[in-house]
Amino acid sequence: MGRIFVTRGLPGDALSDLADRHEVVINETDEPVGHERLLEEAKRSDALIVLLSDPVDEAVVRSGVKCIATFAVGYDNIDIDAARRHGVAVCNTPDVLTDATADLAFGLLLSAARRIPESEVFLREGKFDGWAPSLFLGMPVAGRVLGVVGAGRIGRAMMMRGRGFGMDVRYCDEGAMPDEEAVAARKQDLDSLLAESDFVSLHVPLTPTTRHMIDARRLALMKQTAVLVNTARGPVVDEAALAEALESGRLFSAGLDVFEEEPKIHPKLMELSNVVMTPHTGSATVTARGRMAELCCGAVDTVLSGGVPPNSVVPP
Ligand code: GLV
Repeated sequence: MGRIFVTRGLPGDALSDLADRHEVVINETDEPVGHERLLEEAKRSDALIVLLSDPVDEAVVRSGVKCIATFAVGYDNIDIDAARRHGVAVCNTPDVLTDATADLAFGLLLSAARRIPESEVFLREGKFDGWAPSLFLGMPVAGRVLGVVGAGRIGRAMMMRGRGFGMDVRYCDEGAMPDEEAVAARKQDLDSLLAESDFVSLHVPLTPTTRHMIDARRLALMKQTAVLVNTARGPVVDEAALAEALESGRLFSAGLDVFEEEPKIHPKLMELSNVVMTPHTGSATVTARGRMAELCCGAVDTVLSGGVPPNSVVPP
């Protein structure tokens, strides 16, 4: 039995099941918990369940908690080095959100290629006055090159979708990740992938190396007819440079689920019609979010019972 602080209510039954065995304290407001309260609660708790939007710095890590579970696969909001130094377990939610996120990425790809949201607004505004040969011409998908940046689980799920749509799938991956045979796609370096792709989809974690990986120089390498999709983390792209490229027509369009300073959106992006945006809902399916909650609760329960959860980023 331990005290677990949860920074926001989670979908599904996992938290109430956890409350059968532990004292579970939930921030019941719809507001982010804030650093001061998080630190206060951490000092009184054995474990935390946090969101990707909660910064977890060294002060929180060394507050005395044994485990921090994040309701996300990405953990760039947590000071992982501090967790290692202070022996605090960190757990995340891999696998269960792979298909949901790849589906949204592919949805954004199609929406940005075929200008679906822009056409819908046009129609709802009563502007559709008859079939027209050149109405909302977009970019073809079949036969075109899909460049996947980052061949982890979600990147590979995106490649599978690309193959299903008859695309010529390529990828780049800096790590020792899958070889060409394993993912049935050609491996390229990032710059040549950007230059040759008709669609580029980002699937890398946010690290010091990937921050602004897609900057003005790299955007300039891309085809003028290309579409950029980002469902990874906003700061992987220099958002001001992207807005500039989209505004000037240097890039055909973009599909974005993540932003540099969430929940703020670059004002220029808000005005452009050649960008499709969703509010960081990559994993937002009933099933994925329910299973993410189960993974977080299971991890905390396991650590507090002296075990090692399989979904440990930093094992206890
Ligand atoms: C969502 O962005 C996640 O990392 O799970």
